[in-house]
Amino acid sequence: MSRPSRAFPGALLLAVALAGCSGIQTPLDPAGDQAALSDVIWRTMLWVCGFMYLLVLGFLGWALWRARRRRGAEAPPAVGHTQAEPALERSLTGWAALIVLGLTGLTVASFIVDARLTREAPNPLHVKVTANQWWWEVEYSGQPSDRQVVTANELHLPAGRPARIELRANDVIHSFWVPNLSGKEDLIPGRVNRLTVTPRRVGVFRGQCAEFCGLQHAKMALDVEVQDPAAFEAWRAHQIQPAADPGTPSTLLGRQVFLGKACSLCHRIAGTDAGGVTGPDLTHLAARRTIAAGTLPNGRSALAAWIADPQGIKPGTTMPRVTLTAKELNALVDYLETLR
Ligand code: CUA
Repeated sequence: MSRPSRAFPGALLLAVALAGCSGIQTPLDPAGDQAALSDVIWRTMLWVCGFMYLLVLGFLGWALWRARRRRGAEAPPAVGHTQAEPALERSLTGWAALIVLGLTGLTVASFIVDARLTREAPNPLHVKVTANQWWWEVEYSGQPSDRQVVTANELHLPAGRPARIELRANDVIHSFWVPNLSGKEDLIPGRVNRLTVTPRRVGVFRGQCAEFCGLQHAKMALDVEVQDPAAFEAWRAHQIQPAADPGTPSTLLGRQVFLGKACSLCHRIAGTDAGGVTGPDLTHLAARRTIAAGTLPNGRSALAAWIADPQGIKPGTTMPRVTLTAKELNALVDYLETLR
């Protein structure tokens, strides 16, 4: 077996470090104004502190070098600070001034960034995000319509327009974090927190609950799709529509199963009698990327597996196992797949 090259660990470390600089869940690749501000302050702190650190190392190296040179000299070094060393005093004074200047600069910069992050944006899109163990409810309000848009685990935002997000929690404290768009903000039961995000780049990003909130905290993700404004309006117009009626015997049976079994007690499907509100609204379930808050990719087999054994896939979830025959399960999945 050949020995691994010495350069290998270094190259691996560099690759890992650089891999963190882009992607759909990183603050180092900002796709919105607020994340860009955080990125600026982060880089400023990195450069200022990095520069100071190198100066300290340089000074330490110089002091060691000087002590070694003195040891080689004839006269033994004086113990203690016996006489003034003008050069040393000057450099220490300079160093103290540099520290004061650097810290003051960083403090002022962080105040400026903080003020800009909390600034109210004109004409924002209003969105309500409610955290639950362990999924996200997303509601769009403020537009005249016969039906409010309610979805789950997927946040759509128009690029270039600020979104004012109201954050609530139904059970315990969670934290809303979409690293490419903004910093974190807690969702606290009995309180409304607000966060403004102004996405600039079209794309799909990944949000994640950032506060430990119980057994399935790690499976509490949120897809964020930033669209150009026309595509966003088209999406919203479609979401306002109620679910289409089933058109085949199997999907008809699937809807009967949904309404006849426990499903409709917890889930709502607009256009049907299913009006439960403790679980996610499923009116346009099939159009989402994932199910169970990012736990599984959305699709026929994942839906069937999830309905058949939710506790096996996400132990602790409030979704109960509903006893269904194979035919009923198949028909139910057929029906859910029509909810585009
Ligand atoms: Cu919700 Cu962690």
